[in-house]
Amino acid sequence: MLGSSCLLWLLAVAFSLVPRVQALAPQALEEEEEQEIPQSTLPAVLCDYDSCRHLQVPCHELQRAGPRACLCPGLSSAAQPPAPPRLGEVRVVAEDGRAEVRWCAPSSPVLQYWLLLWEGGGAPEMGPPLNSTVRRAELEGLKPGGAYVVCVVAANAAGESSVPALDGEGPGDAGGPAFGPCGRVSVPPRPRSLVHAAVGVGAALALLSCGALVWHFCLRQRCGCPRRPRPAARPPAGL
Ligand SMILES: *[C@@H]1O[C@H](CO)[C@@H](O)[C@H](O)[C@H]1NC(C)=O
Repeated sequence: MLGSSCLLWLLAVAFSLVPRVQALAPQALEEEEEQEIPQSTLPAVLCDYDSCRHLQVPCHELQRAGPRACLCPGLSSAAQPPAPPRLGEVRVVAEDGRAEVRWCAPSSPVLQYWLLLWEGGGAPEMGPPLNSTVRRAELEGLKPGGAYVVCVVAANAAGESSVPALDGEGPGDAGGPAFGPCGRVSVPPRPRSLVHAAVGVGAALALLSCGALVWHFCLRQRCGCPRRPRPAARPPAGL
């Protein structure tokens, strides 16, 4: 009696364990598969990374955070200073003396950016440091009619990118900021002052012509210019 109950108990324990073992086995397999799939069987996808997009999260962080593995563009060594960024569009708002500068990241690890700005032969002025996600910055206090050079500098722990315009090579001499870090910023004269000048000149011209007309007629009528009666008097004289 004791033996059979013992046997029953053992059987019960054994059967209650079986489903658990079965339930565990597929999970363990799935985990192994999940670890293998991204590396081997899934097609490679490029990360949603745009080197010119403002506030772009660094690609290696996208790789870490994403649900699927993705590919990042290759970067130069972190032991070397970054390659120069590429200056993009420079949009000048002449009325406010402002300009918005955009750029694209180099294929290098970057810790921060900053802008350099100078006018003619003046000394370059350095802007505030911008973090590595930034691709857009604003220049302020530009003079109307001013001609400036602006450059973007990228830096990492190993150093900063080169600035060709400071080494004597002109910025974008081949027609605007082609692929370099520098470009020209030409601020047109204040449009408002142009309008004011045009209105002023127009008003002065109108006043002048009015004055001329008034003077012309007044003088003729008041001074009783002697020329007026003459044409009326001529026909009889001519006959
Ligand atoms: C980088 O700077 C921008 C603009 O100042 C800011 O909005 C953003 O939160 C900063 N990002 C990091 C990671 O500090």
